[in-house]
Amino acid sequence: MCGIVGVISAKPVQKILINGLQKLEYRGYDSAGIFVNSARNGQHVVKTVGKIAALKAQLTPAVEGTMGIGHTRWATNGAPTDANAHPQYSADERFYLVHNGVITNAAALKDQYLTGVPFKSQTDTEVVVQLVAKFVADEGLTPAAAFYKTLNLLQGSYAFVLADAEDPNTLYAAKNKSPLLVGIGEGAYYVGSDAMAMIDQTKQFKALQDGDVVIMHQDELTITDLAGDFVHRDTFTANIDASEISKGTYPYYMLKEIDEQPAVMRRIVDAYLPADGSVTVSADLLTALDQADRLYIVAAGTSYHAGLVGSYLFEQVAGLPTEVHLASEFGYHMPLLSAHPFFLLLSQSGETADSREVLVNVKKQGYPVLTMTNTAGSTLSREADYTMLLHAGPEIAVASTKAYTAQIAVQAVLAKALGLHRNLTAAKALNLRHELSLAAAGMQTLMDEKDQIKNLVGQYFPNQAHAFYIGRGEDYPLSLEAALKLKEVSYVHTEGFAAGELKHGTIALIEEDTPVLAFITDDATAAHTRSNLQETEARGAHTMTIVSEHLAQPTDNIVLPDVAPLLSALVGIVPAQLIAYYAALGKGLDVDKPRNLAKSVTVE
Ligand code: F6R
Repeated sequence: MCGIVGVISAKPVQKILINGLQKLEYRGYDSAGIFVNSARNGQHVVKTVGKIAALKAQLTPAVEGTMGIGHTRWATNGAPTDANAHPQYSADERFYLVHNGVITNAAALKDQYLTGVPFKSQTDTEVVVQLVAKFVADEGLTPAAAFYKTLNLLQGSYAFVLADAEDPNTLYAAKNKSPLLVGIGEGAYYVGSDAMAMIDQTKQFKALQDGDVVIMHQDELTITDLAGDFVHRDTFTANIDASEISKGTYPYYMLKEIDEQPAVMRRIVDAYLPADGSVTVSADLLTALDQADRLYIVAAGTSYHAGLVGSYLFEQVAGLPTEVHLASEFGYHMPLLSAHPFFLLLSQSGETADSREVLVNVKKQGYPVLTMTNTAGSTLSREADYTMLLHAGPEIAVASTKAYTAQIAVQAVLAKALGLHRNLTAAKALNLRHELSLAAAGMQTLMDEKDQIKNLVGQYFPNQAHAFYIGRGEDYPLSLEAALKLKEVSYVHTEGFAAGELKHGTIALIEEDTPVLAFITDDATAAHTRSNLQETEARGAHTMTIVSEHLAQPTDNIVLPDVAPLLSALVGIVPAQLIAYYAALGKGLDVDKPRNLAKSVTVE
């Protein structure tokens, strides 16, 4: 994981690097560092354990230059320590490197080339920068030649930015599997893990491809392949609205993003569902999907949970048998596939390494792939045959909220489009434009009642270590997502369970006051779920009900505005997101940056 930035300019770069790193903090935040260099002011490296705020506190105006590199880390090789923070540098303190990715043959390269070289860290990155320095010092190669030679030895994933303390006029970068973009400024070049990190400086970018090597001077940019042959990369304009990536008046991005969900629903309606009842989905995609005998939805974490909800839509609205798989499992243990499979990769970031592995494997076998992603131009969207955008806008909080509901809504769009293409009654009967508008209004109603949810959190989670969400049918995947939200931001150990399954063992964990929260939105099983909840109450559980309006009873705790049954997760998740938010807030935790996590998981 990790986020990286680099700048080469005529102007001071410290502030640009820090702004960029703050935007990239979602990619990891256990340590951070920068290296700056200029002919006038010399070289400075500062790195520390902790978030960007901790790094900022250590910077003085003297740490300034006209070129620089920066890093925010999510530890993979080596614990989060000052020594393992990036930039990593060579023993002769000439070369400085920031890295996002994992070099899988670092240990072998160290043994082969670097015996006797003193190391300061446990990182794979230090091996790479020591190799560059060695090839310059021992073999007399230029830094560029040493960089190419090193890159050609590496296995694994990387986005690198390399600086040479002896040359403040050149910056080097390279990409393989990890994302990297070049930003084109006036008399300046930027490089970073995403466009947001550079959007304050430029809107013009080049997306690098695997195997690209970049050499930047203030007024010149060269991109080659690993053999040194020039390659052309198109320049594109990133239409990111800077206000979308600011917190505004909200205390945390998570609350802002929960609150944005009604607007996201309306954007999806505008993008895909014209008033004439048609659906704006590419005809080629529908033809390919129509030929499939089975849909395989593959994703990770929250996106996987959204896929589980989506499977009901594809089966019931489009008549397409659907399986949902975890990307981290599917990538290496592919089940026996149907005769004509079609793959749907769901990914907010479009960069998740586990999902990319699946993409590479299934493409190798020639199967069609659609990526639904929130990030136009992301790796998964570029490499898939088809892409559909989620239109959720940048999601900054590490815990995914609006991307989850957007994923469900856009899957509904595709299911409806395919169902219409197949002339199915279920698809014709689903007025999705109306239903998504209803869901948006329902979300808004729930947001307006957030003080009530805050109170409930005070009653149910004064100091609880464990909790359960339960539900049946679609309420089961909803329970999985609700549990993930609560555990990842509040650190309350929470499990999502199929309500009927709890009694087959796990009910043994219910103690006095254990919170058990039940979703009840499914007519067919509402009574069963209520019974299951009573079984836990009889054993001391502190139960809470989150119930659709038409099934609600006077004693229920949270009432969900009615929406189409297949879309109930769109409103059901809102109170659960708020419960997670307030539980974390009550504990004084950093809601947007839970411990040990990163938003874009670019390691397998
Ligand atoms: C949890 C969360 C993660 C992501 C997962 C996949 O709140 O955000 O579980 O859903 O890491 O990420 P994407 O969707 O970017 O592939």
